[in-house]
Amino acid sequence: MDAKKKLSIHELAKMKREGRKIAWLTAYDYPTARFAEEAGLDLLLVGDSLGMCVYGYEGTVPVTMEQCIVHCQAVRRGAPNTFVIGDMPFMSYQQSDQDAVANAGRFLKEAMVDAIKLEGGRRVISRIRAILDAGMVVCGHIGLTPQSSGQLGGHKAQGRTTESARALIEDALAIEEAGAQFLLLEAVPPEVAGFIARRLSIPVYGIGAGPECDGQLLIVSDLIGQFQAFTPKFVKKYADVAGVVTAAMKAYTADVRKGAFPAEEHCYHMLEGEEAGFRELERKYGK
Ligand code: KIV
Repeated sequence: MDAKKKLSIHELAKMKREGRKIAWLTAYDYPTARFAEEAGLDLLLVGDSLGMCVYGYEGTVPVTMEQCIVHCQAVRRGAPNTFVIGDMPFMSYQQSDQDAVANAGRFLKEAMVDAIKLEGGRRVISRIRAILDAGMVVCGHIGLTPQSSGQLGGHKAQGRTTESARALIEDALAIEEAGAQFLLLEAVPPEVAGFIARRLSIPVYGIGAGPECDGQLLIVSDLIGQFQAFTPKFVKKYADVAGVVTAAMKAYTADVRKGAFPAEEHCYHMLEGEEAGFRELERKYGK
């Protein structure tokens, strides 16, 4: 079978023009990245949602650059032929354009991702421009931006009032005008997201932003039923990994306790001709 071919930014733009939707997921580790590449996902995001999905934090704010880089490296190894986006964690770009370029550059140099994503609209335009000027590919992210959920009053859908929809449209136009290659809308009404997707020439993807976006993103831990702390309204669960894994662990525990595991087929035996020598040892060291 031919190896899968990684999509380029030109192919992704062409897919938008041709109305071909793309599917992407988050991934945080090597095995999941392998499954995703095998399953034919178009893009993978190593999201700072790893803070909740992998480390058990309450939100994304504590996530560090070091954690993001390590997880991007694992995903890159697992999915060498898939377009991978690294997610810039809180305080890796908020303070200055210089910080933003240096940290974005680390994602490329140390983890060989294909693009980076950062949260915010007009207020991060100079960061987006600086990263683009350094030759990198940028995905903007507006709507529900978890790193600033405190300012948003919680993890709440955005663009549900005329004023909030106007702010989203202006942010989206500014991000396209700055030169970003993609835009991600999170938790936005479908009518607003659909308008932005049609209005912009760059691909506009959605997570919780309805069916009219140019592609859909979901958090892999939600999709496979692994993350249990809460489930946003926009999630569709395609599997019950938590149920499957817990049942397997329970069965293993019961087998060990009743002596049913390990069985004969799980045992190594001494090499042929070594039994007599071992009986000697038993005699020598036995009580
Ligand atoms: O970190 C992440 O997975 C994200 C998505 C929720 C968009 O930023």
